[in-house]
Amino acid sequence: MCGIVGFVGSGNAKEKIIDGLKRLEYRGYDSAGIALPIDGKIEIRKHVGEIKNLEKIIGEAEFDSSIGIGHTRWATHGAPSDVNSHPHGNMDSSIAIVHNGIIENYQEIKEWLIKEYGIVFKSETDSEVIAHLIGIFYDGDLLAAVNKAVEEMRGAYAVCAIAADEPDKMVAVRKDAPLVAGIGKGFNFIASDIPALLKYVRQVYLIENNETVVLTKDDIVIYNENGDKVKRDVFNVTWDADAAEKEGYDHFMLKEIHEQPKGISETLLRRLEEDGSVNLDGISMTKEDIESFNKVYIVACGTAYHAGLVGKLVIEKMARVPVEVDIASEFRYRDPFVDENTLFIAISQSGETLDTLAALREAKRKGARVLSVVNVVGSSVARESDDVFYTWAGPEIAVASTKAYTTQLICMYLIGLYMGSTKGTIDKEYYNKVLDELKALPGKVEAILDKEPEIEALAKKYHRKEQVFYIGRGLDSGVSYEGSLKLKEISYINSFAIAAGELKHGTIALMEPDTLVFALATQDFLYEKMVSNVEEIRARGARIIGVSKEGKTEIEKVCDEVFYIPQCIDEVSPVLAVIPLQIFAYYVAKERNCNIDKPKNLAKSVTVE
Ligand code: M6R
Repeated sequence: MCGIVGFVGSGNAKEKIIDGLKRLEYRGYDSAGIALPIDGKIEIRKHVGEIKNLEKIIGEAEFDSSIGIGHTRWATHGAPSDVNSHPHGNMDSSIAIVHNGIIENYQEIKEWLIKEYGIVFKSETDSEVIAHLIGIFYDGDLLAAVNKAVEEMRGAYAVCAIAADEPDKMVAVRKDAPLVAGIGKGFNFIASDIPALLKYVRQVYLIENNETVVLTKDDIVIYNENGDKVKRDVFNVTWDADAAEKEGYDHFMLKEIHEQPKGISETLLRRLEEDGSVNLDGISMTKEDIESFNKVYIVACGTAYHAGLVGKLVIEKMARVPVEVDIASEFRYRDPFVDENTLFIAISQSGETLDTLAALREAKRKGARVLSVVNVVGSSVARESDDVFYTWAGPEIAVASTKAYTTQLICMYLIGLYMGSTKGTIDKEYYNKVLDELKALPGKVEAILDKEPEIEALAKKYHRKEQVFYIGRGLDSGVSYEGSLKLKEISYINSFAIAAGELKHGTIALMEPDTLVFALATQDFLYEKMVSNVEEIRARGARIIGVSKEGKTEIEKVCDEVFYIPQCIDEVSPVLAVIPLQIFAYYVAKERNCNIDKPKNLAKSVTVE
């Protein structure tokens, strides 16, 4: 996590760095800081809280330079505080660094620096050791000092350093944390992610793992881990920075909820031919490959993992192959059964989630074929996969994922359809039926969005609850997990999801009179069983909001309220059923005055283990 930005050019570094940091606040917003070389010394200003707090303390005109580095933090080592904020400097303020990641052996390095060099540490962070390491190795050549420091460091990092004695140069290095260099005319940038640079540049170099970059105002030189210069193709950014603006909505989350019809259409259109076949442009998986897979793993975190829960049932049904879904942070440490006949599907909005990336590498090492479902073009997960199935959700800024989830579901259907039709496990009639239903989804999502006031009213009625349950069966069970995560992450209500049939095996003990339960009942073939499960909790006095398909009204008898989604086949109902849950979470959080787009303790991109 954390966002870093560096600028080198002529004048006004401060303004450009602050602009860039604002675009990276999704990576963390516990504190922010900036370092500029001024009069032979590095001046650092930093402040706990959002970037607006930093802006208040860096207003002075004399605090500016033509080069500088900035940081927005998501705390890992050391609480959010002024002193733990980045940048960190060395003892005589001749070096400053910003860091994204974790230095795993920082304690060891710290003890050594104290013992051998009498270094006095100011912060509790792991990152401060980097500034001191570079400081002790520096003898007039920043690149050499950074290289020597890197030899001592273990862990994940994107670091950018400046030196007071070389005020025309920045040196950045990447290992398992994202870094891009922006190419300007008479200026250059380094940053954790493309949006930070888009106001000023459209051309970037994507920096690879273990590469070091030296930036001056006229040049960007990339070195590989052996110290050889690397020639990198320019990556042209085609999307627009404006896509990351709120456009009149109160919050990015609400805007992104409303962008779902468009995201779903785009994701479908990019992959569907006029004759209805799924186009796999850019994907090298052959019929033989698909037939050779005897197992599929879907691995992801958070919301993306929840998309995988739906993906499992969809792909198993359509392609008749066993699918296991795993949480990325668990997968890599459990010696999973993976070989050349395994298809490994990584799902990630950001494409930078370190747990997912590490799991992907583990699967690759064991010989799996890696297909990723990713939103951010050119991200690490995308680059390290054999094939990429992009979601076309557009930039997702709110920490709570919404449009990425529904577009990930679309990819699950398209992968299922493609594999199933290739293997002959589904017939043409079924294929066409699912396709028609998928194409109808944007309109049906619109219809649900039109009923937003209905859900807002429910949120107003129930926002004081301190505990909410989400239950469902089959595909609804996967959606329950997503509904529950949405609510807890932005409203801080203790919410809990469980397969409805499992309730009676223990969790039903928590049902009290007035406990709020969302009961998802959109699966026709499980409808009656679901109604029975709802009866069981109703008997314990719970308050129940049902989510059901239009025309399936029997559930009204056992629910306090029912929200109806448009009719659809069971397979695609998750795309519709999740929408009221997203809207409910949003309005509950709003009623509770929560920081909806930037919930406490969270960050959009989780690049630490
Ligand atoms: O970028 P990714 O999809 O890999 O992120 C995975 C999770 O960190 C993410 O979905 C997280 O759970 C969201 N805050 C959920 O809204």
